[in-house]
Amino acid sequence: MKPVKVGLLGLGTVGGGTVTVLQRNADEIQRRAGRGIEVVIATARDIKKPRAFDTSNITLTSDTQAVVDHPDVEVVIELIGGTSDAHTLVMRAIDNGKHVITANKALIAKYGNEIFAAAHAKGVMVAFEAAVAGGIPIIKAIREGLAGNKIEWLAGIINGTGNFILTEMRDKGRDFADVLAEAQALGYAEADPTFDVEGIDAGHKLTILSSIAFGIPLQFEKCYTEGISHITAADVSYAEELGYRIKSLGISRRTDKGVELRVHPTLIPERRLIANVDGVMNAVLVKGDAVGATLYYGAGAGAEATASAVVADLVDVVRTLTADPENRVPHLAFQPDALSDLPILSMDDVETAYYLRLEAQDKPGVLADVTRILSEAGISIEAILQKEQAEGVATVPVIILTHRICEKQMNDAIGCIEALTSITGKVVRIRLETLDGK
Ligand code: HSE
Repeated sequence: MKPVKVGLLGLGTVGGGTVTVLQRNADEIQRRAGRGIEVVIATARDIKKPRAFDTSNITLTSDTQAVVDHPDVEVVIELIGGTSDAHTLVMRAIDNGKHVITANKALIAKYGNEIFAAAHAKGVMVAFEAAVAGGIPIIKAIREGLAGNKIEWLAGIINGTGNFILTEMRDKGRDFADVLAEAQALGYAEADPTFDVEGIDAGHKLTILSSIAFGIPLQFEKCYTEGISHITAADVSYAEELGYRIKSLGISRRTDKGVELRVHPTLIPERRLIANVDGVMNAVLVKGDAVGATLYYGAGAGAEATASAVVADLVDVVRTLTADPENRVPHLAFQPDALSDLPILSMDDVETAYYLRLEAQDKPGVLADVTRILSEAGISIEAILQKEQAEGVATVPVIILTHRICEKQMNDAIGCIEALTSITGKVVRIRLETLDGK
């Protein structure tokens, strides 16, 4: 059988990795796919740039339309990132009847519903394994491997840059900006690194995971995102004293009222495996009703790690080229006409446990006032820690861990605590999840 011809949009970090892996493992990949795979055309910003892989059989161009309109190309791989040009090019490729593979999480999270509908109408596939958690085959695991389960919740460290920053700050006391610069130099960070540190990138990925876990349309605009820039070394150290690590987690949970969809710094018991996922590594914990808790770990970014997922999608697409479109794995795991209208919950309705840090005057009755407010709000205390007064500081830090409570009740109680004259400044509030597989 003739090799499948592929057009590549973008020869940057992941594009270069994809060509390298396709060339190095060509025989093995052909044995798996049943056909050879040839990249025949690729776009690059600088066509003349020397490259570490063989480009002699690839037409290099700066004309992106030439790739999606190429008559011989059956599969277009989109690795240019961003959502403007990528959206136009992917829609045009689909319109031209080409299958699409993308690593673009922002594109899928924001325009996936439209893209999948167009692909369905044209009978082509859009594969996006590389969009979430780099090389970890998490889309395949949830969409196919866990297809017998009712998924209850998932929680993931799905931004390598953010995890790298938190890890380096904790282990080496390094400066936030310094670690971010290193992640940028290593090619892990997004073009706009605020996407990494403000939880936007993780929000894109979580939106995708949540849709395939629960069979709901993609709704990135309803995803709550909170970054890591306000996490202090003091909070990291108090959390450690209490047996917790602070990680930026993407959490999605199905409840009776709707689906939680949230990215924020979270305390996790340090004995959990996921609490020990450090550096740029990613991990996703998925709880299914039949299988229980399952954990997927690996490199969440990087040239060849991400290429691993791109090439796996390519093999899938090539294997199913001859399959009847109705018998393919659905884009969002559930059949398009069987998606559920479960609402995404607002943060006010989300239930979680909390870490609170307050600065209190060291005098009788202060703690009693605080605990009375919590008790009247129906908030139960799990642990409390009062640190000694530091020299020259008028207040003492008090750390409180609470049991699970609705966020609205917690916010109201925090408002009352901040209004006490014996409490200085804002209460630091970090959510806490035990992730105990129940
Ligand atoms: N900026 C992303 C990260 C790259 O740091 O995880 C992979 O999506």
